[in-house]
Amino acid sequence: MGAGRILGAGSCWAGALLVTLMVLRTHLAHCMERPRRVVFQGKSDCLFTNGTERVRFLDRYIYNRQQLLHFDSDLGVYVADTELGRPQAEHWNKDQAILAQARAEVDRFCRHNYGVAQTGKMVGRTVQPKVKVSPTKSGSQPHSHLLVCSVTGFYPSGIEIKWLKNGQEQTAGVVSTELLQNGDWTFQILVMLEMSPQRGDIYTCQVEHISLQGPIAVHWEAQSDSARSKMLTGVGGFVLGLIFLAPGLLIYLKNKKGRPVPQPAGLLS
Ligand SMILES: *[C@@H]1O[C@H](CO)[C@@H](O)[C@H](O)[C@H]1NC(C)=O
Repeated sequence: MGAGRILGAGSCWAGALLVTLMVLRTHLAHCMERPRRVVFQGKSDCLFTNGTERVRFLDRYIYNRQQLLHFDSDLGVYVADTELGRPQAEHWNKDQAILAQARAEVDRFCRHNYGVAQTGKMVGRTVQPKVKVSPTKSGSQPHSHLLVCSVTGFYPSGIEIKWLKNGQEQTAGVVSTELLQNGDWTFQILVMLEMSPQRGDIYTCQVEHISLQGPIAVHWEAQSDSARSKMLTGVGGFVLGLIFLAPGLLIYLKNKKGRPVPQPAGLLS
């Protein structure tokens, strides 16, 4: 193991595809239908536990949206998922060469690629989340508010996010989006808390992630309505002051420029 190329799973693609095409051809010959589009997929998954200590290989065959059959390395045989997959599963299970190849994939495909991923620093990759708290006013009740904790840009996907109010964990009124996969090896998620803020309440979004030494805590402090109106009064006063100050300043500067320059003293007087 170690460095090397990523290998594909050596599955029985060609065989399955051939069967599918033959089924289609006979179908077409009988019915004279126009050609139909079909999607045939093979998906090979490696599931790792404790590094490569325990590895499970799953090889799945999907016709349109229906999984026909799969190979499970825990069982060591092909398993039919639908009646349509049964003949194929029975056919491959009788073929010792195909079975041996499928059983070897935990090493040839999974453990090998784990080594490649380790060399490429994909195994053990961690990126710290960014955490931001912002209020919005769209709760289900007219006077309730939403606090949104946006947790972005982290890897891997496992994360624990809690809402606290004055240090107490909140479970009621907490809603979360699904985990969003950005497609660039980072994830993001939003966790909302519905609340009716009272002055002085401190809300905290607390995030724990494998990339962090300790939890990240971002606080938000509720302002009462009177505090908000005091602040607005202050801002209003400041703007009013500016409105009076500006023309005064202009007039002052104009006068300063227009004033006659003092004459040098002593020539003719
Ligand atoms: C993980 O694997 C190592 C050997 O690679 C073993 O010593 C250890 O006990 C395993 N840990 C668990 C939790 O199974």
